[in-house]
Amino acid sequence: MTAKPLSSSRVLAITGAGISAESGIPTFRGPGGYWRNFDPAKLATESAFRANPALVWEWYRERRAGIRRATPNPAHVALVELASHAGEFLLLTQNVDDLHARAEWNGQHLPDAQRVQIHGDIFVSRCTRCDYQRREVTADADSAPIPCCPECSSALRPGVVWFGESLPCAALGRMDEFLGRGPCDLTLVIGTSALFGYIVDWATRGVDAGGELIEINPEPSPVSAFATTRLRGAAASLFPRWVAERRDS
Ligand code: OAD
Repeated sequence: MTAKPLSSSRVLAITGAGISAESGIPTFRGPGGYWRNFDPAKLATESAFRANPALVWEWYRERRAGIRRATPNPAHVALVELASHAGEFLLLTQNVDDLHARAEWNGQHLPDAQRVQIHGDIFVSRCTRCDYQRREVTADADSAPIPCCPECSSALRPGVVWFGESLPCAALGRMDEFLGRGPCDLTLVIGTSALFGYIVDWATRGVDAGGELIEINPEPSPVSAFATTRLRGAAASLFPRWVAERRDS
């Protein structure tokens, strides 16, 4: 198959925890991953939060601190470069970190309009009762074990999607809008175990319509069988090389 030039391609990139692994942020299911050591039912569900909000907040504050210390790696940067060469580009990330937003290539960042965080944003704290929310990128505004809403005094919770919760409507709407405008010529699936059906569905829409599907992951996933190219290894080394080759082809 001759690849379509990037400048006239509609490109969808789907990322998961593996793309941030080389920035020092643990994955969920890999060696040292969160779900190898912690029970998701005790940390990442609404009922866990109701049962022990202080414990859940402690875990999210530790994760926030780790992400604040981390820096984007060459795979995050290569995605910004790819976006700048593409005809149309959307990033759908399952990651709640801000490394895609912070990655910079040639003085450019990925604009908000090209970035969808389908599982939420770890730096958002939002009220469990009213519409209040704030972003706490540089430091947590409130170090109380369970931060309180300044408007209605209810507990704040992390602005992420927990198991059993619906995906955010606005994020779903942006994804539908992008996919509804036409099939993707190129879909990249980087660093995700792709265990959720919606991820496999979005990842394979383009290839079903004759597009390319590139998977970058040291391990196989449910997407692998549909991929037109499988790059087995670490994203931070393989992906920048792939972008350079495609850019120059
Ligand atoms: P997982 O931990 O399930 O999978 C990480 C994937 O990254 C695995 O397939 C690894 O093989 C791969 N990987 C590891 N190191 C890599 C590297 N250096 N380069 C490329 N790939 C690498 O993480 P996700 O797929 O992101 O949900 O998990 C999906 C969702 O499950 C998360 O968003 C989170 C979790 O429960 C919520 O919090 C709602």
